[in-house]
Amino acid sequence: MPNKSSDDSSMIESSFLPACEVPTEDFKLGPFTMLIFGGTGDLSRRKLLPTLYHLFREEEIFTDFSIIGLGRRELSDEEYRSYIRQALDKFIPESIDDKSFEEFSRHLFYLPTRFEDEHERLCERISKIGDREEKNNLLYYLAVAPAVAKNIIEKLDQYNMCKGKYNAKIIIEKPFGSDRASAIQLNQFIQKHFDEDQIYRIDHYLGKDTVQNIIFFRFGNSIFEPLWNRRYIDHIQLTVAESMGIEHRGAFYEQAGVVRDIVQNHIMQLMALVAMEPPVGFEADLMRDEKIKVFKTIRPLDEEYIYQFTVRGQYGPGKIDGEPVPAYREEENVSHVSNTPTFFAAKLYIDNWRWAGVPFYIRTGKRLKKRSTEIFIQFKQPPLRLLGRTCDVLTPNALIFSIQPEEEISLQLSVKYPGMHNHPHVVNMNFNYEETFNFKMHSAYERLIIDAIKGDLTLFARQDGVEAMWSVVDPIVSRWESIPAKDFPNYAAGSWGPEAAAELIERDGRRWREL
Ligand code: BG6
Repeated sequence: MPNKSSDDSSMIESSFLPACEVPTEDFKLGPFTMLIFGGTGDLSRRKLLPTLYHLFREEEIFTDFSIIGLGRRELSDEEYRSYIRQALDKFIPESIDDKSFEEFSRHLFYLPTRFEDEHERLCERISKIGDREEKNNLLYYLAVAPAVAKNIIEKLDQYNMCKGKYNAKIIIEKPFGSDRASAIQLNQFIQKHFDEDQIYRIDHYLGKDTVQNIIFFRFGNSIFEPLWNRRYIDHIQLTVAESMGIEHRGAFYEQAGVVRDIVQNHIMQLMALVAMEPPVGFEADLMRDEKIKVFKTIRPLDEEYIYQFTVRGQYGPGKIDGEPVPAYREEENVSHVSNTPTFFAAKLYIDNWRWAGVPFYIRTGKRLKKRSTEIFIQFKQPPLRLLGRTCDVLTPNALIFSIQPEEEISLQLSVKYPGMHNHPHVVNMNFNYEETFNFKMHSAYERLIIDAIKGDLTLFARQDGVEAMWSVVDPIVSRWESIPAKDFPNYAAGSWGPEAAAELIERDGRRWREL
């Protein structure tokens, strides 16, 4: 808030808009029941239940709630509670304590279901839970394969659990469809049962604070806005690197591959946040309108373009942190002649006024050397090499959004190295979330689950956006599926991907940033 004293400087200060105050008052969510279809699955164990427990224990923002896990396993409520307890012990050992888990677990229930015919029991179960409001505010979380999802939705509707009597919302995990055509079909199906404002298409990247901060950074700081275009930006590199393999998701990953798993959603969303025009407001649809314009202006990828400017890869055996790891083709539920790509790199262009001619280099892959998600924005060189006598090429300015595991923004600058010689030297100005706010960042799912309960769609994808993202990647997927890669596996686990990815950027006289 502006300073209240009456000297001149404070009067000037007060004529500007004050920054928003950080809300200090606690906010609480109203009563709700969350039904997690796939309640014993990987996502529930790793992310959803740890997030819900954390919200309950640390944030104390909900008290009247029930969580019903639904799964094929035959478990009682008690057995489910201890199953979830084991998951929390494994994935968030530092936060778990007996007393609060005991309280949390009183809200936790389980219903064994084959997803086809058990909804009668489900309705009956809901009717026994909590007060009226709690059982009327229903949040369905579909953490299941799309084929099963359809069945579930149909049954929910048969028992009038979609509209009308209940205030229901449905969260659907990505990938939403497996290409544009199937996404349209799936959507037409869902919209027979739910209205658009009941549908929450989740992309957990949008729940990350560091990702949301791209928008705050761009539109909350006037100094970068004039530079944010083709005149001053040389190129952008976007990396989503994982050292992890496919874990136990071979069956899913064989169908999906890296493009459907990461590029169609996480990478497209990151690209949109960096490249979009300022929205005229912060509301869900205004934000989503601007993002869609970015997807629609990504230069279409025809066969020649795919051949020249995209790279696919699949990992062979190698070492991660000194430990040997198997090749993709040796993973559980993966074909030993699999053509599924686990690595993707490309040079993309956004053909609009702001970005014409600025390359966006993208890379993502499993079993890479290090886990790192970052956006690297390199600015152009100064117009004259005044310092050229001591240094032929200056290291250009760059702005780096480190999304994870480091959570920081840094600005790369040149300064004079102290001493008699005129040597420019590169330094970084750093803002680190944890150091600055003394605050441990929470899981992306926290924000998204809270928003879904509150009914805020801003951080969820809209159907036309999903379709536009598929339109970008569909040609790559179908080309790659129709012409199997002869050189797979073409990178060692623990490396930075295939040679061709380095060549892709080096051809332009640039290099991937070292992570
Ligand atoms: C998921 C993908 O959407 O994102 C996974 O399905 C991937 O394959 C994960 O590992 C990465 O998420 P994060 O938050 O760890 O970068």
